[in-house]
Amino acid sequence: MTKQPRTSGPFVIRAIRPEDLDPAIRLLNREITGGVNIFRLIPFDDAAAQRWWALHGSGRYQAIVASPAGEPTAEASAAEESIAKGGSPTVMGWAAVVPHSAYEGYDRTAEVSIWVDERFRGQGVGKALLRQLLASCPERNLRSLISRIESNNVASLRLHEACGFVHSGLLKDIGEKFGQSLHVAFLQYWVPDALPPTADDAAQG
Ligand SMILES: CC(C)(COP(=O)(O)OP(=O)(O)OC[C@H]1O[C@@H](n2cnc3c(N)ncnc32)[C@H](O)[C@@H]1OP(=O)(O)O)[C@@H](O)C(=O)NCCC(=O)NCCS
Repeated sequence: MTKQPRTSGPFVIRAIRPEDLDPAIRLLNREITGGVNIFRLIPFDDAAAQRWWALHGSGRYQAIVASPAGEPTAEASAAEESIAKGGSPTVMGWAAVVPHSAYEGYDRTAEVSIWVDERFRGQGVGKALLRQLLASCPERNLRSLISRIESNNVASLRLHEACGFVHSGLLKDIGEKFGQSLHVAFLQYWVPDALPPTADDAAQG
């Protein structure tokens, strides 16, 4: 899918590579075990990570990652090992689209998943990832994106609003985690010029 790295500050946005899988899943698992921004309770194990890779490793739903500019490709695995020892990470954040529904009529709508390592939040990484994801919608044959955001997740709400998403509804007390009842805001984005005529357009002649 997105082959060309895009520079944006001291990091590049590029397509995910096999060596990014472990750090990407580790980032997700930290949120699963420690936060309410994802309602999943059970961390990804190796089998779940492989299923994730089957969807996001290539093709229409390929994930994109933010990694430090100038990162040496061949040494990515070694660099990743060094994270545990306090070295530089290979994945500062990642973003992907997920099918909204298996029903064919929803084929050109997808849901956003975006995660930035807490050490790199507030530095423009999330905005660069989301903008690149939006720019890739035409080549992915997508016309609308949905984000489901926990109602107190101000950072994600502001990020999506800044990138052109609009509020489409609030589902109250739809989730539970760590003993809290949680609300979810739905935000939607329409890819410019990608919508076919609606029934209303046809009625207006
Ligand atoms: C939401 C998240 C992806 C934002 O990534 P980020 O790299 O920190 O965001 P950026 O630095 O690119 O900021 C983009 C915009 O978001 C808003 N924003 C980011 N952090 C914010 C905060 N803590 N409070 C208020 N607004 C914030 C700002 O409007 C900012 O725009 P600006 O730079 O023009 O002011 C990141 O906080 C994150 O990974 N959170 C945990 C996971 C998560 O919630 N994922 C989304 C699930 S729906």
